[in-house]
Amino acid sequence: MKKFSAGLQELTILETGKIRVTRYSEFLLLYLENLAFSQQRICDFGCGTGVLGIYAAKRGAHSVTGFDIDPDAITLSKENISLNDFSNFQPYLIKDHVNRESYDFIISNPASLPTVKASGKEFFSGGVYGIDMIRDLFDFSARHLEKDGRIFFLQTSLSSINKAANYAHNKGFNYKIIGVFQTEIRDHYQEFWHRVEQNQRTGDAHFVEINGTHSEIVYLVEAKYRDQL
Ligand SMILES: C[S@@+](CC[C@H](N)C(=O)[O-])C[C@H]1O[C@@H](n2cnc3c(N)ncnc32)[C@H](O)[C@@H]1O
Repeated sequence: MKKFSAGLQELTILETGKIRVTRYSEFLLLYLENLAFSQQRICDFGCGTGVLGIYAAKRGAHSVTGFDIDPDAITLSKENISLNDFSNFQPYLIKDHVNRESYDFIISNPASLPTVKASGKEFFSGGVYGIDMIRDLFDFSARHLEKDGRIFFLQTSLSSINKAANYAHNKGFNYKIIGVFQTEIRDHYQEFWHRVEQNQRTGDAHFVEINGTHSEIVYLVEAKYRDQL
């Protein structure tokens, strides 16, 4: 169980070995403190533990809908929703839900590490360029974002910023970086580091190296329909 503060909110979140609250989510929560959630319809895309949606519910959202591809994430989100006592947050397995809703904000901490997806790696794998789930996020948003709605999500510099921004553009969205943080590369990234180096050569990944230590840059992105700019 993880207890932590996100701004003025105290959150208690159950985690499993596979599904947890990451440094990325904590960074996104810091930013979300500036947003007015009251009476907004929120989607937590790739809800995992449910932490982002629970935060939005705590901040007075009208309703929160969570989606994930992993049944274990839905079970865990449901546990966390009851632990935090929210009835206006519903998580669904994405393939089982016929969704006719639209949302004011779609928030997401997508799986975006550049490694091929496999069973058990849904939490972090974003495919060869790290953008498979980001593409799904834009496809979903093109169907379910309110006209003047906004998407807030994170993208690591180890994935292809160019390809994600182009995809957003082709779907009718802008792609604007509004925040950034730097964090050290973890040991388990070794298993796909060859892919990062390969993608770096084509401008589809970048990282910084200071005194022999590698760090990734994590970008906070805001997107909206370009005709609403
Ligand atoms: C990095 S985790 C973030 C979890 C949680 N939102 C958080 O901030 O702690 C990414 C989540 O997205 C889910 N996911 C991966 N691919 C997805 C897709 N194409 N559509 C929806 N969810 C997906 C994973 O199962 C995982 O729970």
